[in-house]
Amino acid sequence: MFEAFPFDPAEVSHQLLAWYGKEGRDLPWRNSRDPYRIWLSEIMLQQTTVAAVIPYFERFLKKFPTLSALASASLDDVITLWAGLGYYSRARNLHRAAQQIAVEQGGTFPDSLEALTALPGIGRSTAGAILSIAFDKPTPILDGNVRRVLVRLFAWLEDPRSSRAEKQLWVWAEALTSKDSPHDYAQAIMDLGATVCTPRDPDCDSCPLQEICQAYKQGLTAVLPVIRKKQKISVRQQIALIVSGPGGFLLRQRPPEGLLGGMWEFPTADLSPAMMAEQAAARLLSDLSLHGTFQKVGEIRHAYSHFKLELSVFKVDAEVDEGVAEGSVYCWCHGVELENIALHGAHRKAYRQLENDS
Ligand code: ADE
Ligand code: SF4
Repeated sequence: MFEAFPFDPAEVSHQLLAWYGKEGRDLPWRNSRDPYRIWLSEIMLQQTTVAAVIPYFERFLKKFPTLSALASASLDDVITLWAGLGYYSRARNLHRAAQQIAVEQGGTFPDSLEALTALPGIGRSTAGAILSIAFDKPTPILDGNVRRVLVRLFAWLEDPRSSRAEKQLWVWAEALTSKDSPHDYAQAIMDLGATVCTPRDPDCDSCPLQEICQAYKQGLTAVLPVIRKKQKISVRQQIALIVSGPGGFLLRQRPPEGLLGGMWEFPTADLSPAMMAEQAAARLLSDLSLHGTFQKVGEIRHAYSHFKLELSVFKVDAEVDEGVAEGSVYCWCHGVELENIALHGAHRKAYRQLENDS
């Protein structure tokens, strides 16, 4: 399933560690093995650059020098110190995790992948960084920087965000992680990504991995990782009426051509931005020559390949079942038949939701 190595994997840590000895950065969280500090730095670095993190890191530690100081702080004080760093869920998770460690682990910082990833805000990569850097346990990391380095090193030509890529990249990350010097290796590969193998214009001439790098060998350093063009996914808003009368539910069949051709659905209308869902529902009801009371019963979100559908669903108790503009595309249909008919996905969801609620 996975591709063979185009080079000796041991060569990567060998070269990186030698390079890190000379070129590694001196950063404030690097003069300590205190897991609390390492954890704090990793959380801050998740979505923020080193330069922006440094002053926050120092201020935070001055105020909360230990895990127990953080655990007993108020959330307000933590958020205040975080102000300006962004992604505030990080601060909330940090505070919650500190309290969990204080209460559930007796204040001892966990040192296993399972226990770490069970804490709020710690995913597999951050756990890997903490285990490597604080506990010197060989554990792979796959943050944004490492991801880019690996994509280039192995000349991964596909979208790096697919689940296939994800699996492959973790396998490579694991294979390259140094068993002997995980503490240095983790920081070395992150530094390489941050300072040499940068998103644009990687400085391949200063790179310790140039000789084995497949992107370099193939002249692909400028085009990898491939950026999948973000398709503008449009959102389409519609309303649907689940009309029930004595003859069952009212359904109509979509035209044979086009999207979901031939499938059945509850009567539906597009919702324009200027229109309230209730207005659109009343209009559709009148277009169907039906009378009755209606009530909004839910919102369905359904993703198609090229757009997202947001469907406001109304339940209608119709007074008569003859009023509908008769035509072969409409039918009244009982619940049992509904289960077997080719009802399109969003509408089946809407129907099931209605059934569950009643
Ligand atoms: N990015 C994430 N973690 C890092 C670390 N420990 N050193 C440098 N950059 C990082
Ligand atoms: Fe990145 Fe260039 Fe080094 Fe390859 S040779 S790992 S592209 S900096």
